[in-house]
Amino acid sequence: MMRSVPYLVTLALLALAFPFASAFDPSALQDFCVAVNDSSSGVFVNGKFCKDPNLVRVDDFFLPGLDIPRSTSNPLGSNVTRITVDNLPGLNTLDISLARLDFAPNGVNPPHTHPRATEVLQVLEGTLYAGFVTSNPNRLFTKILHKGDVIVFPFSLIHFEINIGETNAVALSRFNSQNPGVITIANAVFGSDPLINADVLTKAFQLDKNVIEYLQKQIWWNNNN
Ligand SMILES: *[C@@H]1O[C@H](CO)[C@@H](O)[C@H](O)[C@H]1NC(C)=O
Ligand SMILES: *[C@@H]1O[C@H](CO)[C@@H](O)[C@H](O)[C@H]1NC(C)=O
Repeated sequence: MMRSVPYLVTLALLALAFPFASAFDPSALQDFCVAVNDSSSGVFVNGKFCKDPNLVRVDDFFLPGLDIPRSTSNPLGSNVTRITVDNLPGLNTLDISLARLDFAPNGVNPPHTHPRATEVLQVLEGTLYAGFVTSNPNRLFTKILHKGDVIVFPFSLIHFEINIGETNAVALSRFNSQNPGVITIANAVFGSDPLINADVLTKAFQLDKNVIEYLQKQIWWNNNN
């Protein structure tokens, strides 16, 4: 019983603090807010302007062609086709988006995070080995996924997939953000613009500085479209 008062106070403080947590997509205040790239003809909401509802058409909510296989002839052997508010404007303020993932045999979607979303990945074709790592201390969770299997990558945790089958693999992912964002770990660390000071990385990764400089000279391929 003695604990309940501080507990309630904590809950009340959390409730007060919540409106200031801007990391999550806000709930929609209207049926839709189709994104329009013109501030003079819209209302500013969450980074995108709303199109005049009278001008909204069904095609604002429609995007064909997600069944078409994507090219995986790049060094990673994978291709991520993102469907976000940027190419499907009807997603604006709706807290959801998706992606098609194509993998050649041995193709990899390298370790990355989505800073604004949890991901649910479903295998449509082929066999993937997928995993994610918790925040510190870093536990690794992995699973072999076959057609029809689903895995959850919790909010913003580092995760990856590799095609371990002998055929191409295809997956469909959903995200609880209209714009989940992507941070590919190797690209961000070794391929930023400008580069992170090599002394920082030498000490941080406990490697020879030549190795860091070698890594910084590589082309860090972006498989996201
Ligand atoms: C939106 O407008 C800005 C400023 O005019 C322009 O730079 C940008 O390319 C536009 N984006 C799209 C997707 O049309
Ligand atoms: C992904 O596939 C599309 C369509 O096949 C292609 O235009 C694009 O260059 C590919 N992207 C990568 C990163 O390979």
